[in-house]
Amino acid sequence: MLRDVNCGELRVKDSGKVVKIAGWVKRIRDHGEIIFIDLWDRYGITQIVFPEEVLTRRKKARELGLEWVIMVLGEVKKRPKDMINPKIPTGEIEVQARELSVLNSSKVPPFVVKEDLQAEKELKLKYRYLELRRDKALRNFILRHKLMQSARKFLNEKGFLEVETPILATPTPEGARDFLVPSRMHPGRFYSLAQSPQLYKQILMVSGFDRYYQFARCFRDEDMRGDRQLEHTQIDIEMAYPEREDIYELGEGLLTSLLEEEVGVKPSIPFPKMRWEEVMDKYGTDKPDLRNPLIIQDYTREAKNGNFSIFNSSKSIKGIKVESLFTRRDIGELERIVKKAGAKGLLYLMNDGGEYRSPFAKYFDDLKGFKIQKGETLFLVAGSRKIILPSLGALRIELGKKLGLLEKAWSFLWVTDFPIFEWKEDENRWVPTHHIFTQPIGDIESIEDDPGLVLGKQYDLVLNGVELGSGSIRNHNPEVQLRLLKVLGMNDEEIQEKFGFLLNALSHGAPPHGGIALGFDRICMLLAGLDSITEVITFPKTLSGVGLMEGSPSEVPGEDLKELKLEVKNNE
Ligand code: AMO
Repeated sequence: MLRDVNCGELRVKDSGKVVKIAGWVKRIRDHGEIIFIDLWDRYGITQIVFPEEVLTRRKKARELGLEWVIMVLGEVKKRPKDMINPKIPTGEIEVQARELSVLNSSKVPPFVVKEDLQAEKELKLKYRYLELRRDKALRNFILRHKLMQSARKFLNEKGFLEVETPILATPTPEGARDFLVPSRMHPGRFYSLAQSPQLYKQILMVSGFDRYYQFARCFRDEDMRGDRQLEHTQIDIEMAYPEREDIYELGEGLLTSLLEEEVGVKPSIPFPKMRWEEVMDKYGTDKPDLRNPLIIQDYTREAKNGNFSIFNSSKSIKGIKVESLFTRRDIGELERIVKKAGAKGLLYLMNDGGEYRSPFAKYFDDLKGFKIQKGETLFLVAGSRKIILPSLGALRIELGKKLGLLEKAWSFLWVTDFPIFEWKEDENRWVPTHHIFTQPIGDIESIEDDPGLVLGKQYDLVLNGVELGSGSIRNHNPEVQLRLLKVLGMNDEEIQEKFGFLLNALSHGAPPHGGIALGFDRICMLLAGLDSITEVITFPKTLSGVGLMEGSPSEVPGEDLKELKLEVKNNE
């Protein structure tokens, strides 16, 4: 090795040893006759001292720059008392250099590579290797590594087999667009990058694998945001013969063991469960943050008790009550949020020391029916459920943040009993809310009459308002699966073409099976206390899907396209 010690391991007990130590130059303090250098690597920081006699022999020491890679041969010395740095584990020693080797120089970095790094996002991504060369960034990946090992240990002990499945796949509809890979050997045909291993893992149950897991890389061409990337990693799990409760128990065991081992907290189990319909009614979203105590309540009866035309002409009126008063400006800002989520406007009723303030006060003889106490405000949105729920859901989140209502906690929730289908207005057809492989609850005798009424054995796991995972009990009966596919409006031929292989596998002795996939990037993000998954992904894409460092996506030379029998007609 070019070094015998790393930058984090020397202590007072090593005084007197002559060591070879290597790392990056993080700080240079030149006092003329003596130079101090902070040498950094993944393991820590060690102070190197170049005394005068070495400086005269080793002139290079004067030329060193930040981020150069050097190796120093020197003696470990106890620092004088007044030079001790109690903030770092190596703070009681320093290495007095005898020899210096410059292993590599560095261009002047585009930003100072320090813990509280100040630079434009784009610049940081372009020089991602420099951004990562910091304790703060590395810490997230060390946690990611540990969580991965812990999860493996947990699942291995429960008898799960770690199995890989193809990435070059056929479309597995998870609700996003596929990334397509042209086949050279079959011109005009394409592989789809797996959006998830969904069908492969189900078919492995038909094969008798019984308990499967995989850290699965999944690829989805969808709009990105803080907790969504074009490629992500799932802890993907499937098992034979489970009831829903078995998956809940497994998910709870896995998450609590990760939290206990790597964060040192022990959330109580079982996690609360709530049916999808109730969740939507109370929180206006299917991934509520239960640390926020606000709930949506129905005020249709109270609101229709006056002569206010907006209320009287609306199907329903719902609201959120808070113990706080607001200025006009505050209300303007909150109104912008509900409008962005689809509402026409935001109405309010404020009880300011016994006096009501409200744009609809004059249309009511008496406002007591709303039961708003002194110091309270009621925000109301009128319209249909489809408009009210998302807009009050967004308002609830904003009020929770603005009023500081969220306690520090690990708030888990299982959301259960999702509808299998939802009506897609713009496409004029039924689409699956999750995927179409979920087993319906109860019989499906009259499923075709109103698919919207059919609930599925689907469950989502939510932590602090983030969807951590999703899964279901699947259809092992090929006839049931076929009927569900038909509701989507596919004819027999299409079904055979896209899902024939699944139906065929299900027809060859498929055991009842079910599973779950947990978003591993999201787990790492939350357990590291972060609010974006890009910080736990080594080389993330920008929101517009660009890899700024390596320059992906890139153009492809004409010959390559020719070989694939492809032509780019218009790259505008
Ligand atoms: P689903 O599509 O809900 O289910 O994905 C499972 C979990 O993966 C995470 N996730 C993502 N994380 C980051 N970026 C993304 N673009 C992204 N998309 C999803 C989320 C989500 O809860 N095959 C089914 C699972 C099953 O039924 O077993 C599936 O993929 O945390």
